[in-house]
Amino acid sequence: MNWIRIASAGDLADDEVKSVNVQGLRVALYRIDGEFFATDDRCTHAEALMSEGYVEDGCIECPLHQARFDIRTGKVQCAPATQDLRTHEIRREADDLYMAVPADA
Ligand code: FES
Repeated sequence: MNWIRIASAGDLADDEVKSVNVQGLRVALYRIDGEFFATDDRCTHAEALMSEGYVEDGCIECPLHQARFDIRTGKVQCAPATQDLRTHEIRREADDLYMAVPADA
């Protein structure tokens, strides 16, 4: 596993989401209660961008058909999506945020 620096902690306020390109993979990076989380940026329903959705109560709501996912776990909370979002591990070192990327990615 490689750790790739993807952003600064100061880039995001609480309850914000931002799109980050990590070696060609579009990732949605979130800040919730001062902690950072990441999921794939594509909705599992019809490929809308989660980074254009709405963060509320630890969930992200898809901007297209309003499916909701738990940001910490990626679990689907309501239809029309049925498949969970893939999550990515984030590590913070001072102001730098790193994402775990498979060594062969
Ligand atoms: Fe996200 Fe349809 S594209 S719920």
